[in-house]
Amino acid sequence: MDNADEKKEGFQDGQYRRQLEERAAELRISEERFRIAAQSVSDLIWDWDVSSGRVEWFGDIDGMLGFQPGGFPRTMDAWENTIHPEDCERVKKARRQHLLDCQPFSVKYRMIGRDGTVFHWIDRGTGVWNETGEAVRMIGAATDITKPMLADDALRKNMKELGELNRRIKENQAQLIQSEKMASLGQLAAGIAHEINNPVGFVRSNLGTLSGYVGILKRLMDLHICFVQAVQAGDAGRQSALMKEIDDLAKSEDLAFILDDVDVLLSQSIDGADRVKDIVQNLKSFARLDEAEVMEADLNECIESTLKIVWNELKYKCRVEKKLGKLPMIRCYPGQLNQVFMNLLVNAAQAISEKGDIIIETEAVGQEIVIRISDTGAGILPEQFPKLFTPFYTTKPVGKGTGLGLPISYGIVKKHNGTIQVESAPGKLTTFTIRLPLDGVAEEVKP
Ligand SMILES: Nc1ncnc2c1ncn2[C@@H]1O[C@H](COP(=O)(O)OP(=O)(O)O)[C@@H](O)[C@H]1O
Ligand SMILES: [Mg+2]
Repeated sequence: MDNADEKKEGFQDGQYRRQLEERAAELRISEERFRIAAQSVSDLIWDWDVSSGRVEWFGDIDGMLGFQPGGFPRTMDAWENTIHPEDCERVKKARRQHLLDCQPFSVKYRMIGRDGTVFHWIDRGTGVWNETGEAVRMIGAATDITKPMLADDALRKNMKELGELNRRIKENQAQLIQSEKMASLGQLAAGIAHEINNPVGFVRSNLGTLSGYVGILKRLMDLHICFVQAVQAGDAGRQSALMKEIDDLAKSEDLAFILDDVDVLLSQSIDGADRVKDIVQNLKSFARLDEAEVMEADLNECIESTLKIVWNELKYKCRVEKKLGKLPMIRCYPGQLNQVFMNLLVNAAQAISEKGDIIIETEAVGQEIVIRISDTGAGILPEQFPKLFTPFYTTKPVGKGTGLGLPISYGIVKKHNGTIQVESAPGKLTTFTIRLPLDGVAEEVKP
């Protein structure tokens, strides 16, 4: 080898070394880049050398499991010993399966940290096989999903609590509706008592008069029986004495009037008893706890029966005009709609201070039933409109207003998939309009 060749050889060696160094530097950079990337993602990347059992971890495996840096042994045994005993077999089986026939390796399992803390991991990996098909390595990434799982658990718990809260609110709402109904009935009780007292009073007085009449008629009957006996005995003297007595009694007691009056008193009393029966019937249908019951009902009948309940509240100052159109039956909660009608009618009456009109209109328009309750009362000021349906908004003194009538009515109408609107302007009627779809409420809707 001459000098030139040696030089060339030396030159090539040097070049080759430089190239190797450059490649090594590139590799170092690349590995560093990989490490930094692995550290900055939350996943742990692992590389398991099957024959030696060594595992290289990229990412903070030690910190994650509560070890000092480098404290967690880098072996497959250490890893497997840290898997929750209930999950370990499943993980090993999935890995075996993957290395045998390439089935995807993706498992969720629990790891137990140094201080006993349980972590939830999801792990995915891929094997590396040699040319004879033997698995030599497996590389994968494990993600700690403890936090999202806990958040998921917390979310589920929150959802459950929310559901429970919702159920309680619904229950309270149903109770509120019922107690508002009872409170309004309580306010109306004096009037209803009066409505009942009135017919009971005159029926009682009629019975008193009738019992007086029956006394006179009984005396007359006695005299007649005696007269028949005198006729049978042929006692002419006794007959004429009895005839005079009968005649005197008939004249002194005005028998003709009594016989007429008996008819009047009886028919009046039957009327009065019917009125009481009617009021009691209406009260029963009004107050019944039928919230959960959906029924076919004629809303005109509902309005008529509610009108009877509130009648005492209206009759002295309101002229009630009814324009009830023919309505099809609709499926609804009649007891609750009665409550709405009662609220609106009582509000209308309370808005009238001296004398005024209440107009009740019903009609079926297209696919809806429209009910309008109007009054010529004080009216509603523009600034009141936003507050009308707010719970506890009332302009009435304690004992007269609860401020729950309209919000509850709104809730009930909404439950029937309907709407309630109000219009009022100075010098014009105040009108509450309820629109209810003809389909009514679905059977399964609960209050
Ligand atoms: N027809 C009406 N005319 C005038 N104001 C009314 C009428 N209806 C309701 N309001 C007003 O709306 C308020 C709220 O009504 P509501 O919710 O039924 O509660 P309450 O009748 O117990 O006050 C009433 O206090 C009253 O000021
Ligand atoms: Mg009211």
